Amino acid sequence: MEPSAGGRCSVFSFRSCKRSPAMPNWSRRLFLLSSVSSTLLVAAAKRLGLVRGSAAEAPSTSAPEVQTAEIVLTVNGADHRLSVDLRTTLLDVLRDHLGLTGAKKGCDLGQCGACTVLAGGRPINSCLTFAVMQQGKTITTIEGLGEGLGEGLGEGGELHPVQEAFIRHDALQCGYCTPGQILSAVAFLNHEQEPTDDSIREWMSGTLCRCGAYPNIVEAVKDAARRVDGHAAVPL
Ligand code: FES
Ligand code: FES
Repeated sequence: MEPSAGGRCSVFSFRSCKRSPAMPNWSRRLFLLSSVSSTLLVAAAKRLGLVRGSAAEAPSTSAPEVQTAEIVLTVNGADHRLSVDLRTTLLDVLRDHLGLTGAKKGCDLGQCGACTVLAGGRPINSCLTFAVMQQGKTITTIEGLGEGLGEGLGEGGELHPVQEAFIRHDALQCGYCTPGQILSAVAFLNHEQEPTDDSIREWMSGTLCRCGAYPNIVEAVKDAARRVDGHAAVPL
């Protein structure tokens, strides 16, 4: 096949086209020599830092410096002085620093309510707030809800009426959501003395129960509402 105009062969016809007068006298030896010299040139340029993307310009992969802070958290009536990474959530401080594992880590995204605790009497998702932001507030976890329970149950303390109602009505199966359900109910009953099924379902809708214990939870909250008599109050 003849070369096209200008002496250039198409890729499909290279083998069979005739060498044009415009093409250099290209040989296998010349080709190998030029390849080796280009490789050496690039290597030398990289060594001198003249080529973009060379090791000298590669972005640093070292971890960013961790910033810590000294904080004081008031949890279940006790002050705790802690040194924490600024990015630590309240949930992680409660569970990992203070050993209060009642608040559960479900989604860690603010969607399930398993991590609910009370801050100043209001229910919050502890996975969604930094511990440093909760200084000066009174935090209540499920461990601090009853009276005189000390470090655990069965030490002569008293369960909160909402806790008792959950037991009485069998308002749980696996129990993973239960601390969040109970604290959410306590906050609800702090301002609602005559709840209806609808108002309970509406208020508690932020706390999911994968076991589907909802009917018994509603009954437990209604029962607790008849018994709290101000007992439900938690520190604000
Ligand atoms: S773990 Fe916090 S909302 Fe799910
Ligand atoms: S009791 Fe199992 S998730 Fe609610």
